[in-house]
Amino acid sequence: MNGASYGRTVSSVPKQRRRRLVMSFEMVRLDRASSEPLYQQLYRQIREELESGSFDSSASRVPSSRVLAATLGISRPTVNEAFSKLLAEGYLQARKRSGIFVADHLPATFLKAARPATTARTERSPRVARRVTRMTDIRSGRQLDVGVAGPPSVTFVAGLPAVDEFPIAVWERLREQVLAKKGAHLLRYASSRGEIELRKAIAAYLCDFRGANCHADQIVVVGGMQQAMLVCALALINEGEVAWIEDPGFHQARNVFAFVGAKMVPRPIDREGLVIGKCSRQNSPRLILVTPSHQFPFGVTMSLKRRKALIEFAESRDGYILEDDYNSEFRFDGPPLPCLQGLDNAGRVIYAGTMSKILYPSLRLGFLVAPPHLVDTLVKVRAVMDQHSPAIDQATLARFITEGFFLSHVKRMRELYAQRRVFFIEQFQKWLGDYFDLEVTPAGLHFIAWLRRREDLPFFMRAREQTGVWPRPLSFFCIKAQLDPAFVFGFAAWSQAQIEQGLAKLASAVKQLKQRGAGNGSSFQSHPFSPATSSYWPSAAVRPN
Ligand SMILES: Cc1ncc(COP(=O)(O)O)c(C=O)c1O
Repeated sequence: MNGASYGRTVSSVPKQRRRRLVMSFEMVRLDRASSEPLYQQLYRQIREELESGSFDSSASRVPSSRVLAATLGISRPTVNEAFSKLLAEGYLQARKRSGIFVADHLPATFLKAARPATTARTERSPRVARRVTRMTDIRSGRQLDVGVAGPPSVTFVAGLPAVDEFPIAVWERLREQVLAKKGAHLLRYASSRGEIELRKAIAAYLCDFRGANCHADQIVVVGGMQQAMLVCALALINEGEVAWIEDPGFHQARNVFAFVGAKMVPRPIDREGLVIGKCSRQNSPRLILVTPSHQFPFGVTMSLKRRKALIEFAESRDGYILEDDYNSEFRFDGPPLPCLQGLDNAGRVIYAGTMSKILYPSLRLGFLVAPPHLVDTLVKVRAVMDQHSPAIDQATLARFITEGFFLSHVKRMRELYAQRRVFFIEQFQKWLGDYFDLEVTPAGLHFIAWLRRREDLPFFMRAREQTGVWPRPLSFFCIKAQLDPAFVFGFAAWSQAQIEQGLAKLASAVKQLKQRGAGNGSSFQSHPFSPATSSYWPSAAVRPN
């Protein structure tokens, strides 16, 4: 049968058998077009029916796989596979020479506590803490779940690395080795600072390759940049105190600062990086979040002059700088500038790194390098959250670094990204060059494309919705910055064929929409962050260079 969805049911089961089979298999609907395998659909639907308890338990035999297969128009092995799963999980039981029956006690009943009777309530928003309601992120459900929006389809969402190039086999081998060596030791509670081998390996890497000036004792292993920001914000900012944030900048930082009750002050970016400008003493920032290696999303590298000025400023105001060393590994025109932390003699810079882009984001491993006087405070805050990061992953990563796989992976990825980058630029000019000026910066895994004609904006917004090719509007990353219309295109996660296909799809959708004049009604400003509620902002520079 070829139909996408079909509904042959067990109602055609021979009469004398059917009398004994009162389970309502009529509900089975299999969808051949679904990505869920047929056996899995069948297994799931039978399980749901059994859990619903709506069948007559006195006659609980199930049809034979032959009958069920014939009735549903699927193969017997498919039915057998579904049955095996239900048998293994204890939903069904086989009785010798009698057939397969519904189990006397379903796993759902012996695993699940009885649900107390509830009375219907009127829907209203739950009462939640102010720290949640003041978060400016108004996304919800699937929008909020970044995992749902990732590849394999081409989206051009920025910040996704080529995870299919990650050497899984090597990682698995190293993981086995560390488990064989350390065994149950890795299963106990681990250090809230992080595994010592990993801290040593990270410190050595940062000193050798990032121009840092640090020791393993200064390192605190955390769950990526997200946790790094939260730990620092909780440790250093009281409610109502000021945090500086780049505008445009990393959207997740806004959530963090709003969550901790900071007074968020967005700072513009010029061609030297974050603009320090004038600032009264009482509005001095407690924490300044910057991406000096590669400003996100503009791609500006902070000048040496600005770096020194920023450290001096932080020292003079008793503040700290949180350096997100974003994308420093992926520079395509020569070696990166050393990190800010290496310039800091005043103990004002906290360096943060993440494995999300270099290795893979679901690893959730990153690290802070703190001035020695702050380490214990950060560890205390980190421990309050989740004690520590998974010890097995930390030990595996330590080995991955010390045995040279880390450096060779970075090198290989840099080459791959360099090729994808050149290809993306070529293809972009071919497909979308009439609409955009592509801003080519020497580092990073995304580009900003500035729209030439503002009136094309609604067509692109519409085309994104239609195609699922989803470069984010630059306004998504802005707080108060008023910028020309532009989109941020990530290119790293997709093959050359996918890049071409994605750009062609977007271009063709825009062309059709324009022919039909069908762009109206979409709004450029419709992005899921509401404007932040902080004071401040002199009207901003438009493009930084
Ligand atoms: C500026 C910036 N820093 C860091 C990260 C990585 O965050 P995490 O380590 O939480 O995955 C991202 C992710 O997109 C980012 O855009």
